[in-house]
Amino acid sequence: MPSPPRRRILVTSALPYANGHIHLGHLVEYIQTDVFVRFQRLRGHECVYVCADDTHGTAIMIRARAEGRSERELIAEMRAAHLADFAGFQVAFDHYGSTDNPANRRLCGEVWQALRTKGLVVSRDVQQLFDATAGTFLADRFVKGTCPRCRAADQYGDTCEQCGATYSPADLVDPVSTLSGTRPEVRSAEHLFVTIEALHGFLAEWTRSSGAIDPRIANYLAGHFLGEPLRDWDVSRPAPYFGFEIPDAPGHYWYVWFDAPIGYLAATAEWCEAHDQTLESWWGRGGDGTPAEIHHVIGKDIVYFHTLFWPAMLEAAGLALPTKVRVHGFLTVNGQKMSKSRGTFVLARTWLDHVDPTALRYYYASKLSGGIDDLDLNLDEFLAKVNADLVGKVVNLASRTARWLEPTGLAATYPDDGGLFAQAAADGAEIAAAYEDGDFARAMRAIMLAADRANAYVDAEQPWKLAKQGPEAAGRLRDVASVALNLFRQIAVYLAPVLPGLAEQAGALVGGPIRSWDESQTPLAGLPVAPFTPLMKRIERSQIDAVLAASKGPEPEPTTPGGSSMDATPTADSGEALAAEPLAATCTIDDFTKVDLRVARIVAAEEVPEAKKLLKLTISLGGDATRTVFAGIKGFHEPAALVGRLVVVVANLAPRQMKFGLSEGMVVAASGAGAAGVYLLSPDSGALPGMRLH
Ligand code: MSP
Ligand code: ZN
Repeated sequence: MPSPPRRRILVTSALPYANGHIHLGHLVEYIQTDVFVRFQRLRGHECVYVCADDTHGTAIMIRARAEGRSERELIAEMRAAHLADFAGFQVAFDHYGSTDNPANRRLCGEVWQALRTKGLVVSRDVQQLFDATAGTFLADRFVKGTCPRCRAADQYGDTCEQCGATYSPADLVDPVSTLSGTRPEVRSAEHLFVTIEALHGFLAEWTRSSGAIDPRIANYLAGHFLGEPLRDWDVSRPAPYFGFEIPDAPGHYWYVWFDAPIGYLAATAEWCEAHDQTLESWWGRGGDGTPAEIHHVIGKDIVYFHTLFWPAMLEAAGLALPTKVRVHGFLTVNGQKMSKSRGTFVLARTWLDHVDPTALRYYYASKLSGGIDDLDLNLDEFLAKVNADLVGKVVNLASRTARWLEPTGLAATYPDDGGLFAQAAADGAEIAAAYEDGDFARAMRAIMLAADRANAYVDAEQPWKLAKQGPEAAGRLRDVASVALNLFRQIAVYLAPVLPGLAEQAGALVGGPIRSWDESQTPLAGLPVAPFTPLMKRIERSQIDAVLAASKGPEPEPTTPGGSSMDATPTADSGEALAAEPLAATCTIDDFTKVDLRVARIVAAEEVPEAKKLLKLTISLGGDATRTVFAGIKGFHEPAALVGRLVVVVANLAPRQMKFGLSEGMVVAASGAGAAGVYLLSPDSGALPGMRLH
């Protein structure tokens, strides 16, 4: 059978902004790109994966200023952090560049020159808000004010979150600069624009018929942008701006979204430089040799840049157009947007500190369908799926059979397995097609079915019983274990793009490193089997809880009545209390609102002589509403000292008959590992009895 022609595939992920750390949302993209790349390589194709940090723009400039250091120092630090995060998740770029590199400056100049030569650059004055205190023009998100349409207060400079209106920051009523808190002034400044309307015909045609774009996205573009003349694209910013100064327009800088996609070219150029190849062979048009494919993987928020501006720039510069723009949806966690207060805005680093990254790779793969639907990381499902599939089905196959083969090695010829290996080998074409489509979920389902069949085989053959039967069953035991181990290795080949570590371990166990998809097609025989080492551990709920706890947003300043928290020396808080009592199962906001927490004032407190722990409190919820509550705080609080202070109570708790009387609620207090004691909660001053906690 002739082997399929070797493709040359260039793959990119969107360049992450240098002003933030990598989080689980980003990883949806970088993991899926990495899986795709590893798959192509396993199939024997030449596949190059490039990416870079997206370093320029106002946000970096402002942050560097605020931190009192240079932008370059800041982006160098973020680069190191990004690279460490990616490495932790086994996202392996062939080259990771930076939009601030010389190669990018040079290529920006070349694309710019092409646009100029074609007469596609025009200059116009733009009214922009200027913060005189900070000495800078303000990007949209650095201005807040009242929506000119619905009058909602506190809206950003580009869109109103209340009514959805879009406008220019200069239209805001009572604008305020978020940098200095002062009112910005409107200043006129010259900007340079690309007249992409000149490429309207090309774009309409390319988006529809090149095959690069999912038809649903092409329809969206046709409906939203291509049905009317395309507006000129503002590609310059006046100084001060952190970016590249435009060579033929001193004092003007390329807008970050101009130099960012050119960063794809620059990263490729740098890789070529190091590998004795030419940029022309990847991004040139025509020429000799196999034409390269270019695949961009991006999130749905940046479709516009990648399907209109970017192809327009490539077209104008006479460069190759993307073969495919692969668009994915956004990550939600437990069905909701990632949130700091819920602890679900999880940084890559935090995850790596507590949970095996390969488990997330598998989970994402099992959820990615190649479409633009959002992807939900449901933490209960995550635990169940990873433990059931990877530990229960895949690793288990090896862990319960490999040891029988340690002394003898695989059977000299592959035994009769009732057609199991051949069946899974035949599935290979469909699994590969699913990977190629980006429908990793389909691939994972097919692989897990193969794992189910393999486990059913082991369950039926019961090698552990054969092992007890002594020498006369030894041959049979060796056969059964040889089948199981081959089925395991076959699955490891199919999973190799997602779980490179597992494939490595499978190779070390038997048969050597897995290098090719074809290794799924022929069983191994007569080879030695190395001692079995545990391949992957169950993930425990407490690990997930630790991730959520570590991701919680900053807690409000602790305040003590009559005292100031300012004079307390901040100390590094130990994780003792949390470790001793892991977080409870997730509850919904509805669950929470069932509990009616109120501020109450203690109006009387007395000992209950017969009770070891209890004080009897009379609490007021304001007006005439008083309650009797027995609280387990005796020994920690002097009754007299409690009278008059505010506490928090569960006001709608069902009354409970106790030995000493009826308790009509519960006073909330903290306790746990780290310090003995029971600590009552106090609201900030100003709170009044009867107020509800939301
Ligand atoms: N710097 C631009 C891209 C320039 S490409 C020439 C950018 N950076 S980003 O850091 O905000 O996002 C990088 C990629 O991660 C984007 O494709 C974006 O869609 C993706 N994601 C960022 N947050 C995400 C989720 N919460 N969920 C899924 N993908 C997300 O955009
Ligand atoms: Zn509005």
